[in-house]
Amino acid sequence: MTHQPTVALLGIGTMGAGMARNIAAAGLPLRVWNRTREKADALADVATVAGTVKEAVSGADVVVTMLYDADSVAATMEEARGHLADDAVWLQQSTVGVAGTERLAELAADLGVAMVDAPVLGTRKPAEDGALVVLASGPEHTRDRVAPVLDAIGSKTLWIGEVGAGSRLKLAANAWVFTVVEGVAESLALTRELGLDPALFLETIKGGALDAPYVQVKGGAMLEGSFDPAFALGGALKDAELILEAAGGVGLDLGLLPGIRAHFARAVEAGHGDQDMAATWLEH
Ligand SMILES: NC(=O)c1ccc[n+]([C@@H]2O[C@H](COP(=O)([O-])OP(=O)(O)OC[C@H]3O[C@@H](n4cnc5c(N)ncnc54)[C@H](OP(=O)(O)O)[C@@H]3O)[C@@H](O)[C@H]2O)c1
Repeated sequence: MTHQPTVALLGIGTMGAGMARNIAAAGLPLRVWNRTREKADALADVATVAGTVKEAVSGADVVVTMLYDADSVAATMEEARGHLADDAVWLQQSTVGVAGTERLAELAADLGVAMVDAPVLGTRKPAEDGALVVLASGPEHTRDRVAPVLDAIGSKTLWIGEVGAGSRLKLAANAWVFTVVEGVAESLALTRELGLDPALFLETIKGGALDAPYVQVKGGAMLEGSFDPAFALGGALKDAELILEAAGGVGLDLGLLPGIRAHFARAVEAGHGDQDMAATWLEH
């Protein structure tokens, strides 16, 4: 039997919870840590719940971070300083953008640990189903080491080069996600304000070349007022900022994203930050 890596998963939020269950189901020994311990306690049936970051990472072969942003990842990995195994690999899966990934790569070098930059595409349900798409980048020698974890959490892993490439592609993918969500909200709002039942818009495109499963799911949630977070609006606003920062860094003038960011920000200010990003519709 091949060696199964011991995994420490730091961050048991919407995504981390589903990922943890799939890592455990694949038979990998798992320790979990979360700032708010109750969320990690919910995994006590499949994982060892660690009270501290130090306890979670000590002796782990792969350390996964699935936290909110670059600041929370950096602060958490600082707590791991001095307790990481010599040959441990840090699998960084949070969405932290271009500058955030550069900063974390510097921290990895300082901590003396190899880092794989591997953000994911897919929300709560794909995380629960082990069906995320992983955009991985990092040193060749780490690939086999992290493969059992990536196979457990995802349906597909794209290896796309040096650290940072995964995070850059993730921004392009999220720009598309936000364009679709905000576009659906706008067409529903237009339909309604032009005096028609907004459901007619979804009915019109249903099953045709302009439809997509995601359009019907998010559009349906908007009309039903169902905003349980699969991807919280506050996180989407954070990522819209990361996209604009990255585009600005290469001199790219994006037409849609500034408007999308403004709409997301308005909905967050109205108190919808913890609801699903479909709640942008509530402020249309
Ligand atoms: N949801 C999605 O659809 C989706 C899809 C792809 C990628 N992502 C990305 O994946 C990451 C996690 O997303 P999520 O939806 O799981 O987020 P979430 O449900 O908001 O969970 C955030 C996690 O970060 C922790 N955290 C926040 N600030 C912290 C700090 N200062 N120190 C330590 N821990 C901190 C939270 O701990 P507490 O429980 O204590 O608050 C929680 O474990 C984010 O980078 C997000 O952009 C999300």
